[in-house]
Amino acid sequence: MNNFEYCCPTHVVFGKGSIAKLNDLIDKNKKVLMIYGGGSIMKNGVYNQVKQALEGYNLLEFGGIEPNPKYETCMKAVEIIKNEGVDFLLSVGGGSTLDATKFISIASKYNGNDAYDAIMIREEQINDAIPLGDVITLPATGSEMNNGGVISRLSTGEKLPFHNNLVYPQFSIIDPEVTFSLPVRQTINGIVDTFVHVMEQYSTYDVNTPLQDGWALTILKTLIDEAPKVLSNPADYDARANIFWCATCGLNYWISLGAVQDWATHMIGHELTAFYGIDHGQSLAIVLPRLLKNQKVSKSRKLAKLAREVFGINEPVDLKAADIAIERIEEFFNSIGMKTKLSDYEIDSQEAAEKIRARFEQRNVAFGEKGAVTADTAYDILTEC
Ligand code: NZQ
Ligand code: ZN
Repeated sequence: MNNFEYCCPTHVVFGKGSIAKLNDLIDKNKKVLMIYGGGSIMKNGVYNQVKQALEGYNLLEFGGIEPNPKYETCMKAVEIIKNEGVDFLLSVGGGSTLDATKFISIASKYNGNDAYDAIMIREEQINDAIPLGDVITLPATGSEMNNGGVISRLSTGEKLPFHNNLVYPQFSIIDPEVTFSLPVRQTINGIVDTFVHVMEQYSTYDVNTPLQDGWALTILKTLIDEAPKVLSNPADYDARANIFWCATCGLNYWISLGAVQDWATHMIGHELTAFYGIDHGQSLAIVLPRLLKNQKVSKSRKLAKLAREVFGINEPVDLKAADIAIERIEEFFNSIGMKTKLSDYEIDSQEAAEKIRARFEQRNVAFGEKGAVTADTAYDILTEC
């Protein structure tokens, strides 16, 4: 096992009725900006629950954060914060709203010209941020218990991640009942995103982390067991609760402690979203099976273990078991209604491969646990997608 440090300061409040606890979690003397997305919280009652819990607070609102949140929108919130002297941010929505809130929290304390360039590209160390908390409404990103975010920029067509310990939420309220209203597409996106987060951290090479691997494989098994239940009965509380906790634990870094991580599927997927606008979960479902095939030899030991422990495959040869695991993963995605080919979205694989190769070449980057996913490898993977 590799050395690691771990400190997640987020106070998690999980379960039905938890939104009412907001007033125990935010200091009444704070000037709060509530940040939300395109209006789902108005339709499913979450907005009213939050307003009721925060009655008497000095509460401002900023709505309109879009899926794959945009830098340009975030900077409008930054302006309000600077003008109004806001000192606490409350994100109410999915991962996009929370990622945007995290970006806004540090961008509000940045005094230079171009916060996107500073935070996402030059990765300047920023040492101050506005504290934040969240009511998370979509199980997918794990953003509620991690220090990352992904922000897109309209003017350049970029979609890039950032990390900063200052943006760990002070608290996250996770009420599975708020997910009853999710559109099927978003439920599926969230299940696939969670599945792929686990694969990015598990499916590398073995450095003897049996506990973390066991957690990872149990998350995968739980997703496979619970997904059909929420799809056939969207108001199945226990299944919604299990899926939400899988999503949170899928990217709160527990499964990657001391282990080796990949993240190449995400980096290619982000480009597909940036160029073609497909959902984050959709992009991952397309890339993962082909990336695993391409990198099968170096990942075969972990993939074979997955085949045996998650899918019950009785194949003693690792490379053959790895092949079966990859097939079963794609079958699982298809079985819950997730499409796994670029052609399903009328995207030409050759064109996508060329565009993304050019972008990775221009940035001079290589991804994966061994840096094996170069611009040329990404091209090979995408032509198979
Ligand atoms: O905007 P509103 O109206 O709220 O509607 C949203 C949005 O249209 C809707 N929704 C959310 N909760 C709902 C709901 N509709 C009904 N009932 C509810 N309870 O769902 C749509 C999608 O929401 P979004 O927040 O975009 O989805 P998700 O949580 O999947 O977030 C995706 C973003 O997270 C990034 C992705 O790249 C993408 O930009 N990621 C963030 C990560 C992180 N912070 O660690 C890691 C991930 O790998 C991922 O990259
Ligand atoms: Zn993801």
